[in-house]
Amino acid sequence: MLVGDKSYQTVWMEESSVFMIQQNLLPFEFKIHECKTYWDTCMAITDMTVRGAGAIGAAAGYAMAQAFLMSRKKTKAITIREARADIEHTRPTAKNLFYAVERVYQAGLISPENALIEAQKVATQDARDSKKIGEYGSELINKKANILTHCNAGWLAFVDYGTALAPVYLAKRQGKKVFVYVDETRPRSQGGRLTAWELHNDNVPHVIIPDNAAASLMAEGKIDMVIVGADRIAANGDVANKIGTLEKAILAKEFGVPFFVAAPLSTFDKACKTGKDIPIEYRSPDEVLYQTGIDGNNNKVRVLVCSPGSDALNPAFDITPSKYITGIITEKGIIKAHHRAISKLLAENKV
Ligand code: MRU
Repeated sequence: MLVGDKSYQTVWMEESSVFMIQQNLLPFEFKIHECKTYWDTCMAITDMTVRGAGAIGAAAGYAMAQAFLMSRKKTKAITIREARADIEHTRPTAKNLFYAVERVYQAGLISPENALIEAQKVATQDARDSKKIGEYGSELINKKANILTHCNAGWLAFVDYGTALAPVYLAKRQGKKVFVYVDETRPRSQGGRLTAWELHNDNVPHVIIPDNAAASLMAEGKIDMVIVGADRIAANGDVANKIGTLEKAILAKEFGVPFFVAAPLSTFDKACKTGKDIPIEYRSPDEVLYQTGIDGNNNKVRVLVCSPGSDALNPAFDITPSKYITGIITEKGIIKAHHRAISKLLAENKV
């Protein structure tokens, strides 16, 4: 995607370093972060310098390749198995991370160079799949459409294009009149910070709304459809996505608004029979209790926004049961969130 007049991907690798857009500085600063070792890349995934299912998948694949490259040196202080465990412990929910690590690990057993080639393939495939999702998803968007999205499943959450936002970008390029309601997505505000920044950067008309505004907007008939991303999709079509997705899905059903999930096949996990099998990440209470931003002088500030002394609970994802989902937009087409449709799709594509 273009930032200014330069084309960027969210994460990439050059020589033995992984580079990424430093997402936890956005929207206030645009900077590139370099990870020289696999361990640096693990840290960047954990602290969400890079985040979003596809982007952390690509970063994790690169981290695995970095570990293989490091292991070639005589001074190696790690074993490949330890490195794999470290990478897999960074974040638990997005299937893409485990998918990428497995692919690069298997490739690296042949040679470190092979691991690197495979990691590049994972990243290239992520961007290509997102582009296809945009093409299929844009067919669902009418000439004039008000779309609600939650969290950030734009190009920042993948290597390029994005999933939930890819159809929006394409629909706009096709001349459709799209307007996006962006859920703020507390506590980390991926909507208010990242989705809004992306849409603004691409001149897509949009407005940020508080997380609790969706019901009244739907009741007023202001939302035509919802498109969200996914971090993991179970075999029965239950979807893990950013906390707050479930309530949007329930609302959409109540108000008769189509609710679509956009995700590549690398997000499906047939080992999870239902959403109950998907591990949900709990993050630090500080993300709820404190907010960060900039003051009038452009200085970074972190402020307490809750009652001092109270604790907070911070589940990062929730599970939306398949019954609330109108369809899943994949790089192979749009399917029902249904066990049979999913197993057919995965079998046809040898997943
Ligand atoms: O915690 P994050 O920001 O890594 O969350 C992942 C997400 O971006 C969302 O859940 C998204 O909607 C699906 S993944 C693109």
